[in-house]
Amino acid sequence: MSEHDPKSQSSQTIDVLLEEDRTFEPSAQFKSQANIADPGIYEKARKDPENFWASFAEELHWYRKWDKVLEWNPPYAKWFVGGKINACYNCVDRHVKNGLRNKAALIWQGEPGEKRTLTYWDLYREVNKFANALKGLGVVKGDRVAIYLPMIPELVISLLACARIGAVHSVVFAGFSPEALADRIKDAKAKVLITADGGYRRGSIIPLKHDADYALMDTPSIEHVVIVKRGEFMLRVKEGRDHWYHRLMQEAANYCEPEPMDAEDMLYILYTSGTTGKPKGIIHTTGGYLVGTYATSKWVFDLKPQDVFWCTADIGWVTGHSYLVYGPLANGATQVMYEGAPDWPDRDRFWSIIEEYGVTVFYTAPTAIRAFMRWGDKEPAKHDLSSLRLLGTVGEPINPEAWMWYHRNIGREKCPIVDTWWQTETGSILITPLPGITKTKPGSATVPFPGIEAEIFTDKGERVEVGGGYLALTRPWPAMLRGIYGDPERYKAQYWTKWKGDLYFTGDGAKRDTEGYFWILGRVDDVINIAGHRVSTMEVESAFVDHPDVVETAVVGIADELKGQAIAAFVTLREGVELDHGLENRLKDHVVRKIGALARPKQILFTAELPKTRSGKIMRRLLRDIASGQVPGDTSTLADPSVVEQLKRRYEED
Ligand code: WTA
Repeated sequence: MSEHDPKSQSSQTIDVLLEEDRTFEPSAQFKSQANIADPGIYEKARKDPENFWASFAEELHWYRKWDKVLEWNPPYAKWFVGGKINACYNCVDRHVKNGLRNKAALIWQGEPGEKRTLTYWDLYREVNKFANALKGLGVVKGDRVAIYLPMIPELVISLLACARIGAVHSVVFAGFSPEALADRIKDAKAKVLITADGGYRRGSIIPLKHDADYALMDTPSIEHVVIVKRGEFMLRVKEGRDHWYHRLMQEAANYCEPEPMDAEDMLYILYTSGTTGKPKGIIHTTGGYLVGTYATSKWVFDLKPQDVFWCTADIGWVTGHSYLVYGPLANGATQVMYEGAPDWPDRDRFWSIIEEYGVTVFYTAPTAIRAFMRWGDKEPAKHDLSSLRLLGTVGEPINPEAWMWYHRNIGREKCPIVDTWWQTETGSILITPLPGITKTKPGSATVPFPGIEAEIFTDKGERVEVGGGYLALTRPWPAMLRGIYGDPERYKAQYWTKWKGDLYFTGDGAKRDTEGYFWILGRVDDVINIAGHRVSTMEVESAFVDHPDVVETAVVGIADELKGQAIAAFVTLREGVELDHGLENRLKDHVVRKIGALARPKQILFTAELPKTRSGKIMRRLLRDIASGQVPGDTSTLADPSVVEQLKRRYEED
């Protein structure tokens, strides 16, 4: 942190944003039907946040009501203390019992073209059976289950089946490499792995079980592997350890009693990149998380019984956990789930899905919107998108141009846009418009959700009323993380020690305007946000130096038109290694093998030396400046200032 000055990096963004003065009021029509349209709710929630959250909790099913809404012993919060609840029961059984038994829960679209619709009853049946199958493999409350699946209904079923029996799920994005999977399995000491023979992405097959077999060579905690059969893919089955999902389901009993969980029992672990090398296992518990995702789904996405909600995120990321699984299902929503890529077989795939299923509320990422912009207005124009009534974005700052494009071409100038800011750690959306209340401004996530308090502070902890600084959260909220799995010290150090006074440090820079609107400026730590996915520079650096030809490397984020940010690497080779033509690609492939395709470096600059301080610290700020073509600022603390000049020259030649 210390070597980085967010103001210098963000000043340009601030200038650009300052010019943004377009505003959009919710229409009278939208207001009149919105789940929440009373602006007084902000003040009401501010005065009594505990009661505010409790009123949502009361809409859920509890085996035992809580004794106390909040117990706050910073940095540890307990919500709905003493309450007993089951997340799966609330997402499935409750609706089956309340008249939604035959309502579509999931409308699944496979990339090659298959369709499957699961009603709440179907989901109930499948989840019960799979919960029994897991129990049959010896999974008990508190055990960790790793999940490495493509975007197929069995992924949702797996999460809910774990939640039903109190097992802790740890989903690993199917685009991650076997090594990344192995690391996560080992950290969580998972007992069972659920995977598939394969999945489809952009017309090709991802051989998940084949990849998982590599991970499984190094994961002694795994006792059983469940394989979902997605296609006709080749794979090896290890007798005794590996089981076909469909066979287990044939033998499983129809009903499995849900486990009444303590509100603070762990629901899941989800790994995310932080500032040091190892990914952090973010812990979410049951009661507060469900209340937070339920409440925000209801108010931010304004979900109604007749809506068809489509969140395009993969369940491998937190957005899929909160806004494809727990939040919308707790609301009894009907959802679209799509397996594949937005440009397969054609660049209008998303729009054709919206038209076909009559999607009403659509939630996607700015990086996708920028790709759509590039593909041209004619793609969405081919389709009837008139079913849409509300749009959302998440994952990274949206540039005002992309916002306006989304507004015109997808929302046809009639849909409000909710730009939702949150994190894996926050569990639920925290800064966002409420579509029936909030005036929006392109590029601004607007204001904190009722009951949430955000502030901007300087490095020294001075509060910034209007202007830029670091984004902080000043009050606990129900879906907040409860820690980092197996590493309480890191939890404190990472989030709670930047300032005095029990303030949560988000790692984001932000600016507040004169109307109190927040403008998120992106990460201020060593995390690169690639297409809305967090990758830590340290992790990529470890992957580089793992290659025998590399001695040292420094990785920085550079602006990328499509993905928001991309990886630029400065690499020092081992003495005697020849810099041949293929080396750059071999190194890129190596990083992909270690982490996954999303971490593929965009550019590599080979250099004999990296700029370092006299104490030997690599000066990333300078590298960032060089990589983004800016003139490096202060070099007075450098051990050898000539290194920067040499680097700059090499960079310009490249
Ligand atoms: C960024 C994704 C600007 C931010 C839910 C945050 C955003 C990180 C927005 C979390 C937004 C997310 N505007 N930036 N609306 N939403 N971010 O953990 O830098 O994958 O800290 O969670 O994404 O990424 P994560």
